[in-house]
Amino acid sequence: MKEKIEQLIAQSREFLKEEQIVTDKEGMSHYCYDATEMRFMPDVVFLPYSTEEVSKIMKLAYSHDIPLTPQGGRTGLSGGALPVDGGVILSLLRMNKILEIDEKNMQVVIEPGVVSADLQETLKKYNLFFPPDPSSTIESTLGGNVAENAGYTRAVKYGVTRDYIIGLEAVLPNGDVINVGGRTVKNVTGYDLVALLIGSEGTLAVVTKIIAKLLPKPVLRRTCIFYLDDLVAAADLVVSVFGSGIIPCAIEFMDNTSINCVADYLSAELRRDAAAMVLIEVDGSNQSAVDEEVRLVMETAGKAKGVTESKLAASDEEADRLWRIRRETLPALKALGKDHLEADVVVPRYQLPLLARSIQESGVGKKVNIATYGHSGDGNLHVTIQYRKRNFAETEEAYELLGDIYRRTIAMGGKLTGEHGVGLTAKNYMSIQMGPTEIALMKRIKQAFDPKGLLNPKKIFPDEGQEETA
Ligand code: LAC
Ligand code: ZN
Repeated sequence: MKEKIEQLIAQSREFLKEEQIVTDKEGMSHYCYDATEMRFMPDVVFLPYSTEEVSKIMKLAYSHDIPLTPQGGRTGLSGGALPVDGGVILSLLRMNKILEIDEKNMQVVIEPGVVSADLQETLKKYNLFFPPDPSSTIESTLGGNVAENAGYTRAVKYGVTRDYIIGLEAVLPNGDVINVGGRTVKNVTGYDLVALLIGSEGTLAVVTKIIAKLLPKPVLRRTCIFYLDDLVAAADLVVSVFGSGIIPCAIEFMDNTSINCVADYLSAELRRDAAAMVLIEVDGSNQSAVDEEVRLVMETAGKAKGVTESKLAASDEEADRLWRIRRETLPALKALGKDHLEADVVVPRYQLPLLARSIQESGVGKKVNIATYGHSGDGNLHVTIQYRKRNFAETEEAYELLGDIYRRTIAMGGKLTGEHGVGLTAKNYMSIQMGPTEIALMKRIKQAFDPKGLLNPKKIFPDEGQEETA
């Protein structure tokens, strides 16, 4: 492979500038990890500025049989952008232009390296709104969000990334450029290749241009917080809110361990004795409608069984402080400095608190620490298992628990991952959820795009002999 890499680098110099080619260890070390904290060194990192450069790089790598892994802001939590087999990292960070804001059609055309928060800021000036906005907003890129079909806190009302992407330009592993979808909101012409590429975790093609539809920006929001002395009661609290006829834009959940961890991390004053905390936000642009909705939420959720305290944020600043608590949950858990495994399971909404409790119960008497938090409104539960890699018993316990969490989830009618993707971390659990016929069909799709299996290899599909089964 070394010789082929040298040839590839020499040929890439014909159309790339020296600053677009990283080959020194120190330089490449900035691209070898993501938010899972796993590390895989590439042989070279390319930083293209255009679709044409992406296409040329991919064509070359393909002709030399060199694996290639696309990469964005490296905030992924399933290892989807890590070069397991070495080879090329194709970093899309330099393709970071907002190409067009079409106010009349309420659409935006962007390059994949645009950072989520930058898009949000720009659209604000036009009173336009792209709802998907992951917790990693200050670093994650739109290309990554499309690759993972990223979720976020507002999905309960507004849907996920896939619901806003109407067109894509992408490059196939052999360098061919394709355009799928376009600038129409409706389109049922042939197979929905846009939907297929979204969430394909960079294993089918590299997205080089994104067309997204937008909404008018809701200008008002009200945020409230509820503490419960019984975690499972959160299920009925959520039911009561929907029962009052309201779809909040966010319903978030944190368990006692998460609450305490964030309280320490941010020195925030939170009810440390609560079994759970539920954060609810309503939004809109009509003052009396928003006032009425928040009144109803406070009334119904405030009276729900198990609620010991409810509070309505008095100002947007206070609401921001509440959101910071939720957004900083994972960073707070990571800051404890232990090794950790992350699960991102999803169940039918009503089952989320039951799953959280059953996971907590399975951790009783174990040395590892478990925290659960997530998107109650979507049934999407994040689980952080903290352990020490150097301690054999704890490592064994952590992985046993992870398998157990996946099995409990599937038994409740759930899925392995709601928003972080399969990548490396969940691939060997795929057979717990999917049958051999479905996995074989997905492999044939991968083959149709990537006959040589060179694009983002060893992701999604279980390693032979390593699969966990139900
Ligand atoms: C969150 C990320 C971890 O919800 O998905 O905070
Ligand atoms: Zn999340």
